[in-house]
Amino acid sequence: MERIKTGIIGLDEIMNGGIPKGQLVLLSGTCGTGKTTLCAQYIYNGLSKFNENGIYLSFEESPESIKNNVKQFGWDFERFEKEGRFKFIKYDPYHVEEVFDILESTVREINAQRIAIDSISALGLYVRDKAELRRMIFNLSNILRRLGCTAILVSEIVPGTTGISRYGVEEFVTDSVIVLYYERNEVSFVRAIQIWKVSGSDHSQKLHPYKITNKGIVVLPHEEAFMKSNTL
Ligand SMILES: Nc1ncnc2c1ncn2[C@@H]1O[C@H](COP(=O)(O)OP(=O)(O)OP(=O)(O)O)[C@@H](O)[C@H]1O
Ligand SMILES: [Mg+2]
Repeated sequence: MERIKTGIIGLDEIMNGGIPKGQLVLLSGTCGTGKTTLCAQYIYNGLSKFNENGIYLSFEESPESIKNNVKQFGWDFERFEKEGRFKFIKYDPYHVEEVFDILESTVREINAQRIAIDSISALGLYVRDKAELRRMIFNLSNILRRLGCTAILVSEIVPGTTGISRYGVEEFVTDSVIVLYYERNEVSFVRAIQIWKVSGSDHSQKLHPYKITNKGIVVLPHEEAFMKSNTL
């Protein structure tokens, strides 16, 4: 099985070598868990280490805000934008059907291999009908598969709710699932990552600690995280 390396220390290891090529990965977690950081790191490593072009599709944060925030990690996306190897797409989720076409043409234009979509949760603010929303997520997953890219789809979980995604459908339309936890322990908060599923492949079954450092996300593949409960 061919794999796409995230280049994130420890993460490829607990995924048995990386994301299987062409898969669609769900990345879920509550707010502030590092979802945007992980996505940016995945795309940036593709550009800088693996010679793979990428697209960052944001439904919420502006490109300027994301680019500014990740500069502290030393990731300069502008350089790759100028080289025509990276594109930031900021889109109003109200016109989500249109964004599918934009995504498709941008993949062709820059020959993108990696895509990050941050985040699917914004769609719910505009599409109230649950069936319609599920259909949209399903359509999006089909398009991403057809494009042949290896994509990460972010879903933000509301704290205190059960389930591993916002709408309870994302984990069924994706091939792999990564969950980020941020939970209170005795005296502080603990960050932990879990590979929930990887279609067609073995992976770590453990809950691993991770850190957000000045180089981005670092997963500790040989350590286990302990939390009071596994609720989000
Ligand atoms: N330089 C840094 N060193 C340590 N931790 C940092 C650093 N920069 C950011 N963080 C941590 O990362 C968190 C934000 O990460 P990020 O924006 O990727 O999370 P997110 O899951 O996308 O959040 P949201 O749900 O709000 O979109 C901050 O709350 C902070 O705890
Ligand atoms: Mg975010």
